[in-house]
Amino acid sequence: MSDTTEAPKKTTVSITVDGRAHEAVPGQLVIDAAEDAGVYVPRFCYHPRMAPVGMCRQCLVEVQGPRGPLLVVSCMTSVAENQVVLTDSPTVKKAQEGVLEFLLANHPLDCPVCDKGGECPLQDQAFSHGPGESRFVEEKRHYEKPIAISDLVYLDRERCILCDRCTRFAKEVAGDPLIHFVNRGNTTEVNTFPEDPFSSYFSGNVVQICPVGALTARPYRFKARPWDLEQVESTCTTCSVGCRVVVQSTRDELVRYQGVDSDPVNWGWLCDKGRFGYEATNAADRVRVPMVRQGDELVEASWSTALAQAAKLVKGAIERDGAGSVAILGGARSSNEGAYAWATLARALGVDATDAQLDDGLPADVLLGLPRATIDDACSATTIVLLAPDLKEELPVLFLRVRDAAEKRRARLLELAVRDTPLTPLAYRSVRYRPGEQAAAVREALLIEADQLGKGNVVVIVGRANLAESVQPTLDAIAALQAGVPGVRFLPLVRRGNALGALAAGLRPQNGGPDAKGVCEAAAAGRISCVVLLGADPLSDLPDGSLARKALANVGTLISVDTRLHGSNRRAAVVLPAAAAGEHNGTTTNVEGRVTTVAQKVTPGSVRPDWMIAVELADRLGHDLGFTSVDDVTRELAVTVDAFAPVTPAALAADRNGVLIDLAGSLTVRSSGTEPAAGNAYEYRLVVSRKLYDAGQTVASSASLAHLAPGARLHLHPLDAERLGAGAGATVKVTSLRTTVTLEVEPDPAVARSTAWVAFNQPNVSAAELIDADAWAIDVKVESL
Ligand code: SF4
Ligand code: SF4
Ligand code: FES
Repeated sequence: MSDTTEAPKKTTVSITVDGRAHEAVPGQLVIDAAEDAGVYVPRFCYHPRMAPVGMCRQCLVEVQGPRGPLLVVSCMTSVAENQVVLTDSPTVKKAQEGVLEFLLANHPLDCPVCDKGGECPLQDQAFSHGPGESRFVEEKRHYEKPIAISDLVYLDRERCILCDRCTRFAKEVAGDPLIHFVNRGNTTEVNTFPEDPFSSYFSGNVVQICPVGALTARPYRFKARPWDLEQVESTCTTCSVGCRVVVQSTRDELVRYQGVDSDPVNWGWLCDKGRFGYEATNAADRVRVPMVRQGDELVEASWSTALAQAAKLVKGAIERDGAGSVAILGGARSSNEGAYAWATLARALGVDATDAQLDDGLPADVLLGLPRATIDDACSATTIVLLAPDLKEELPVLFLRVRDAAEKRRARLLELAVRDTPLTPLAYRSVRYRPGEQAAAVREALLIEADQLGKGNVVVIVGRANLAESVQPTLDAIAALQAGVPGVRFLPLVRRGNALGALAAGLRPQNGGPDAKGVCEAAAAGRISCVVLLGADPLSDLPDGSLARKALANVGTLISVDTRLHGSNRRAAVVLPAAAAGEHNGTTTNVEGRVTTVAQKVTPGSVRPDWMIAVELADRLGHDLGFTSVDDVTRELAVTVDAFAPVTPAALAADRNGVLIDLAGSLTVRSSGTEPAAGNAYEYRLVVSRKLYDAGQTVASSASLAHLAPGARLHLHPLDAERLGAGAGATVKVTSLRTTVTLEVEPDPAVARSTAWVAFNQPNVSAAELIDADAWAIDVKVESL
């Protein structure tokens, strides 16, 4: 044994900031190290989630060098051992004042009418680091103002300080390089190219990160001033990414969502559906009072009348036909607490037919049972296998995270997809498979990419890429991956906000009870007589449209707990108005199993949270669920459902990033051993998947988003469209074994040959009519009219 011991290797960098000793992270930028040391260096262009560019020069500081102090841009300079940084010397002060004086030379005096006034870094830093007065007397620039650069974002060009944040975000983070610097020198401005608007799903982020009021959001413009706003931190539940947000209101009305930087989840970014979807909470079409059916009409009623009627109907169905004749569908819109309270009520009633998904995801036992990976695990894996729907359309901020991992080459992306996606250009290998044949594609990829898949961690992001096929081909592909890649882990996708939480909290098929598809089949056959829709709209969301219609037509009693009327609940016997996002407290579980808080910001009025409706209905059915507050439910959930054991109020309060539930999955999926049947005589294999903007409740009830749903068209490869003699906009007949619908053609090179892609749940044509939930895959005949 040696008698000399090595000194432990130093893992920090010692620097001094304004005389204070500080241990910085190696490689850290001076601007960040100073902030960690408690010294804020003014900045405009620097953003911690984007590569520094040193555009604005506002962050000048002095660093002592061999030849004395030197002015450096602190957002472009890394820390070094024994570095001495001065942020408040006379030289630094003069430099920072000079930069601000130049920036203000052209900046208009819009502050009293500018949305940013009161929360504007330029305004604030002009006060804290500016010269106090300007020597410029020249006329300022004037432009037409504002100009719309997209449906959601306005630009006031003369307010722009050319910091490059918006343009970098669009290009580097979103991958939508649609805003640029145009012209040169003194006439440089940010703008879009004609015919090419900033139609990005992520456009609201540039409004949030613009350090001045040059970019403003149309839904918020002139709605409030920062000092009128109240806010609370919460989680977006529009999809299952679970982005952290602050919810802001004025005069008890939601007016703005801003992204919060949650390191394991959204990095501060939001998609526009999540950012502007709060309009649905304020919408005039909300159901705000209970309704009961009288003849052909739903009429307003008191809560006690509506609850008594709902209880009578449920009790009647159970007494008449048994608990097996009652089903509860949905629950993913709500909180963990809402789902748990309804699952508890279902257990008390002996109802086993509960399902938070609507036959559009993977089976609950697979979702909850697979060996799991987090978003961070996926994005730091050696290889990400993508066997999923287009992430940009369904889980937009997860798309940003995966895009970042692939673009920065931290992970290699092996994409197996039915069509090109925005991640295809970043994929190390992208394989097209014929819908229904993904297991064969996986087996081939396992051979071709054996080396790549054999090294490091492999995480599979897996979900239902095509609603026009059964789930079995995807399960077989999962089985092939588990058999071929030892130690592989999965990030199985759910789309709706709290689908995973609702399933984990108990709203999944119990004791052999049917799932949503089984419930609809049983209802269509007259074996289910009472269905409770918990924020569910099967007519919009069940892939098989005709099955949904038959089920709802044949079920004797429909009870709906929802925020608005829609196709499915217009024929309900009772509609109980539920609290929407921003109107209730509780917790939600994101796609990776991360539980975070959701918070009430505005007064719900007469609507009630799902958990409370379950408690009150249970009471009228003779069951005391024992909950008097949402915290009671959170506490009991942690005690009775093992996965939620770590989710305590203290743990949630301690970390805005939330708490991971412990699903400890070790499921091995077995292959069905079935090979897809040969296609029928029809020619095109059908692919149906979602677009971000659709006819769903959030978009349809948000005035700023509703018109963005693109509508369903038949996307064919241009050569296939040419073969049919159907150019762009031509109308064709599309016939499956179910029915014929008429659609416009859109030639689309992203679609593989011999496949036909249609967007799901669009306002014009229902692609669900073509789908047969029992078919392995669906072939359609396309005929020109
Ligand atoms: Fe920066 Fe805003 Fe100008 Fe974009 S519009 S360059 S974010 S100041
Ligand atoms: Fe909300 Fe999902 Fe968009 Fe995040 S990605 S802002 S959770 S809709
Ligand atoms: Fe450093 Fe702009 S913040 S140059």
